[in-house]
Amino acid sequence: MSGPPVPTARPPLSARAPGKCILFGEHAVVHGRPELLLAVDLYTQVLASPSTAMALDDDPAAPREHPYLRRALEDLWPPGAPPLDWRTVSQLPKAAGLGSSAAFCAAVVTALLAARGGAERSEVAERSFEVERGAQGVGSPGDTSASVAGGLVSVNGRSGALLWELTDGDQRWRVRRVPDPGWVWVVAYSGVPRNTAATVRAVSRRLAEPDGPGLLARFEEVALAGIEAILAEDRDGVGRRMSENQALLREVGVSSARLEELLDAVAPVATGAKLTGAGAGGSIVALPRPGREVEAMKRLRRVGAQAFVVRAAPFGASLVLPKAP
Ligand code: MEV
Repeated sequence: MSGPPVPTARPPLSARAPGKCILFGEHAVVHGRPELLLAVDLYTQVLASPSTAMALDDDPAAPREHPYLRRALEDLWPPGAPPLDWRTVSQLPKAAGLGSSAAFCAAVVTALLAARGGAERSEVAERSFEVERGAQGVGSPGDTSASVAGGLVSVNGRSGALLWELTDGDQRWRVRRVPDPGWVWVVAYSGVPRNTAATVRAVSRRLAEPDGPGLLARFEEVALAGIEAILAEDRDGVGRRMSENQALLREVGVSSARLEELLDAVAPVATGAKLTGAGAGGSIVALPRPGREVEAMKRLRRVGAQAFVVRAAPFGASLVLPKAP
């Protein structure tokens, strides 16, 4: 369900992992509420080769300075283990809310676990979450789980096969497989980078106000109804829930004039659209009307966004292996 285990492999080895967008429930998931994520078919790929010293993209200082690689090496590559020369290439814009850091963590963890003797996918998910959370200081395992599992996954949803359960202190998140209806989506980066940790903290403060529990209950209701609409392949229902989710995200202060400009640009050809990820910059996701996908992308490009037509990534984090002879 979550994909095959990561096999043993020796460097040089390459791994790749998909980015993601969040269809319902960002921010609320940090507080244990449900979320639905779509791993998108845009990937980050890393290559780790034996070397005389650690380096990232030719920079020997980078592995100590890059927050995610540093944390992954601290967790999984003990001092004295053979140095690796890392190269990375990505189809995902950075700091855009499209899961570039989760994909980087999942790809690096996949490569390191392969070099350490292989791993079950649940371990890849757990380690990837630890690396991202350790480097970021806050957050849920939603992004890294989507990147490890591929396809659609829910966090704290009510139905679907359980892939894994992750905890942090009192917090517990259950990650489940949600069947992919096979739809085409459009994601678009506004060009305004966002800071996940700062935005998560600001929203947490907002949710600590007296109306916070009521808001969280509404986030939960919308996400659960959105998951049901996906399961029923009800496009209008999904679109309606996306608009409701966007209204809640506006209410907690993470939409912006620029994101609303993108949402207005795509509205005439979309069944639903909302910001995706932390917000306060970053990206939107739209469900275009069938046959209007390219027009949706063009409308977003006309207002200066970096737009992509995407589908669910058919697989999650994995080694890129040469074909057996
Ligand atoms: C970021 O992509 C999604 C947030 O819910 C944070 C998290 O879940 O870690 C805002």
